[in-house]
Amino acid sequence: PLTAKVNSQNILEIGGCDVTTLVQQFGSPLYILDEETLRLACQQYRDAFKQYYQGESQVLYASKAWSCLAVCAIAASEGLGIDVVSGGELYTALTAGVQAHKLYLHGNNKSREELVLAIDSGCTIVADNWQELHTLVNIAKQGGETSSPIRVMLRLTPGIECHTHEYIRTGHLDSKFGFDPNDLDEVLTFVSQQPALNCIGLHAHIGSQIFERQPHQDLAAVMVQWLQKAANYGLSVTELNVGGGLGIKYTESDDPPSIEEWVKAICEVVQEACTAKNLPLPKLLCEPGRSLIATACITAYTIGSSKVVPDIRTYLTVDGGMSDNPRPITYQSVYRAVVANKMSAPVTETVTIAGKHCESGDILIKNAQLPKTEPGDILVVMATGAYNYSMASNYNRLSRPAAVLVANGDANLILRRESYQDLIRQDCLPDRLNARK
Ligand code: LLP
Repeated sequence: PLTAKVNSQNILEIGGCDVTTLVQQFGSPLYILDEETLRLACQQYRDAFKQYYQGESQVLYASKAWSCLAVCAIAASEGLGIDVVSGGELYTALTAGVQAHKLYLHGNNKSREELVLAIDSGCTIVADNWQELHTLVNIAKQGGETSSPIRVMLRLTPGIECHTHEYIRTGHLDSKFGFDPNDLDEVLTFVSQQPALNCIGLHAHIGSQIFERQPHQDLAAVMVQWLQKAANYGLSVTELNVGGGLGIKYTESDDPPSIEEWVKAICEVVQEACTAKNLPLPKLLCEPGRSLIATACITAYTIGSSKVVPDIRTYLTVDGGMSDNPRPITYQSVYRAVVANKMSAPVTETVTIAGKHCESGDILIKNAQLPKTEPGDILVVMATGAYNYSMASNYNRLSRPAAVLVANGDANLILRRESYQDLIRQDCLPDRLNARK
């Protein structure tokens, strides 16, 4: 985080708060979210569009990266809209007070209930497939003549390859998401004949944690071709959403473009292509998740036991693991760590940081370079804002950690730590199994 600094006692501070004090106050593990870093990233996206795009624009926060009331409220207060992918994310954004006209519902298998909630609240629906279009028409029929047309965008799979982990690539043609661009004529014909549907735009997303600019530039060029096609059908398709995907620096060797460079690259292509084709500039949208929030958060853990496997490695165990950060075990993601209460101590050890789950693969960092540690030291894993809390689980019935928002020396709880009661809240014990009776 931007506000990270080492104080006079050699302790790590974020947002003006001493990390070790935060852990004493709020417990461990703890997600610590730096408000200033999050707001700055929102502003960088917004400002870059203002600077490099002559048309209208709207940045959406892909709340799948971290959906909770406080995060949605901060994004909205910076003027961002929100991309939601489920009834749950939609409900969270609505409850946070996000205006419905800035909400976009994604998903390759939205339920009827999710669609109805989205339509009733006035959110735009990013239609993914034929089944969904038919369901939308059907819902509209039941709503009667009086209801206004449903705002939809069409999601297409552009067939653009990019270098990222196989599981988080979405733009290639055999992705489960979106319409095949070869079917675009058929889809546009259908939509143009449905008074219940108001097709306002086109959408594509090619993947996540991408370090190159070229794939998104290629995407922008292809999307302008689609836009031209849509114009032929007499549809007033005015919005282009190029998705998210800008990568962030997890380790020293990661070298992503800046937010400004990324936005500029896309704006230039859209503007040039539209000028060449004599098309009016669309309202340009993008929906970053990771690059808005990843570096704004750290996770603080307490170091517990250790194990030396002679000549092989030393394990250092923390009080969380794959349940609060499933990314290393899922994608072999690499993270960096420091010891919050030993910031000036010399780095002398190479250790493997393990979680406390009953699973050998529950390793957070292999070969972390740290100072000598003892039980009770506070280990901080950096850049955990994206896809950590949102993918957290209760594996082994661990409670999900608390999260605090820090700014100017203040810390506010934004997610309460789960208690044991929370863990059994949804459990039902059929009466005949109740051994106490
Ligand atoms: N829009 C759509 C339609 C998406 O599917 C995604 C991410 C985004 C936007 C935001 O992408 P971002 O800017 O965050 O890269 N759990 C994985 C990442 C999965 C991304 C899924 N879609 C991870 O932890 O790396």
